[in-house]
Amino acid sequence: MKCLPHYRGWPVFRNLFQVRRERPELTFSEWTKDLGPVFSVKLFHSQFVVLSSFEAIYEALVTKGNSFSGKPTKNAFRAEVMTDQFSNIVRLQANQTWKKLRLICHKKIKIYDTGMKRIEAISMNMIQFLVEEFKGTNQTSFNPKDVIYNTVMNTMMALLLGKTFSKDEELFKKVMEFEQTLIRALSPSGRGTELDVFPWLRFFGNKTYKTLKRLVELKKQIWEMVMEEASRQDLLLKEGEDDVRLMSALKDALSEEGSGLTEKHLRSVITIDIVLAGTATTSNLLYLFLNIISRHRAVQMKLQEEVDRIIGSDRTVCLTDKGDMPYTQATQFELLRYSSVTPLAMHQSSFEDTVIQGKTVPAGSTVLLNLYHMHHDEDFWENPFEFQPERFLSDDGGLISASHPNRCHLMPFGAGPRVCLGEALAKSRLFLVIASLMQKFDILPGEVSAPCDPRLLEHGMVLSSAPFQIVAKERLLN
Ligand code: HEM
Repeated sequence: MKCLPHYRGWPVFRNLFQVRRERPELTFSEWTKDLGPVFSVKLFHSQFVVLSSFEAIYEALVTKGNSFSGKPTKNAFRAEVMTDQFSNIVRLQANQTWKKLRLICHKKIKIYDTGMKRIEAISMNMIQFLVEEFKGTNQTSFNPKDVIYNTVMNTMMALLLGKTFSKDEELFKKVMEFEQTLIRALSPSGRGTELDVFPWLRFFGNKTYKTLKRLVELKKQIWEMVMEEASRQDLLLKEGEDDVRLMSALKDALSEEGSGLTEKHLRSVITIDIVLAGTATTSNLLYLFLNIISRHRAVQMKLQEEVDRIIGSDRTVCLTDKGDMPYTQATQFELLRYSSVTPLAMHQSSFEDTVIQGKTVPAGSTVLLNLYHMHHDEDFWENPFEFQPERFLSDDGGLISASHPNRCHLMPFGAGPRVCLGEALAKSRLFLVIASLMQKFDILPGEVSAPCDPRLLEHGMVLSSAPFQIVAKERLLN
């Protein structure tokens, strides 16, 4: 079989020293110019296939989605340790257990009918807290990281347990430490990859392995705290009351005979797929939004004009306002494109030899989807490093249709059988937070600044902004 385009690299180490390990997607973007949209990268003896263009990514995820819905288990030591031997939705093979777990979670975070009302009620409760915290800063410069994190994490906790936590509570602190350590220790091809390829390095004081051990301990503690809390909440449930908690649905499924589920599935789904994936992505995105918006006064004024016209100041935002607020939706799309918080998506693996854009991706390959490149490809996007919601608007100010090339080239949640489980939830939360903040505040730059250019963001499993401060000035509304 013909080799995929690649750079030779060094003997033994291969491409290890050529890849910017703190931001691999930037190196892969550069290489796309020479190697094309489908190429391979070798780190020691382990090989990845990188797909970069919209056409290649769409062909793999959608047109040939079934061939690419697997998950790699080779050279994946870090994920294996963190996910109880690949027991969560993100890492399970596309089998019956995966289907079952996805279905249970989907039902509980569904975003239509009564599900939508519940998400809306939970989110607005949390947003009320966010607004009060912002007001409490009395227009002084502050870092919004913790309060954003608290708001987003508590939405997940409310869905999971029917209970929220303050930032002084032990569970909150543990989850925050878990997330911040994990997004660095588990990045797809950055630091720590050596442990995937050479697991025996753990016997020689490997730094990433020490971090992994701390993460395993934190995961266990979070799991125990969540279980304890669930039992406490069980006692508070009134006779005949509808139990809508995701935790209860998962526990019921576990106790069904022949379900094929074990405690390790629940432990990894709850801690990683729900608490971690549901919090890390959205909280980093919203944090970045505040950084961006504090420097884009013109965008902010347009958002405020729209929210004032459609909602006014007498009532809170609701999800049904979305359809009447194209500028807010366009800003949300632009935020997802510009920041590309999951730059290399999640690892996929191919079941069989599959031709992508005329190149054969061998069976069993670990595939990285360079969503970052697709979202910043200079051959497609005009001025990709400028924040311009207008690229998602038509000349008459309406939102461009879903079939417009700009919408098609936006795939922040992936696509196909392994599309993000929380897409609808994430989009709804983003809309509610952005519109509510714009209704209440002018967001101005604070005393500490950090770059918001996507090329300068900090690396990890998700991209994030370095610490910064803002001033939240309450708007004087009539
Ligand atoms: C802005 C927010 C979010 C972004 C940008 C995002 C992005 C992604 C991406 C790119 C994937 C991989 C898709 C693929 O491989 O084709 C993914 C998968 C996943 N996401 Fe999200 N996500 C977000 C929010 C959430 C939330 C809120 C949850 C929790 C409810 C969540 C849970 C998951 C899970 C469990 C998977 C694995 C799905 C599977 O393999 O079947 N994500 N996400």
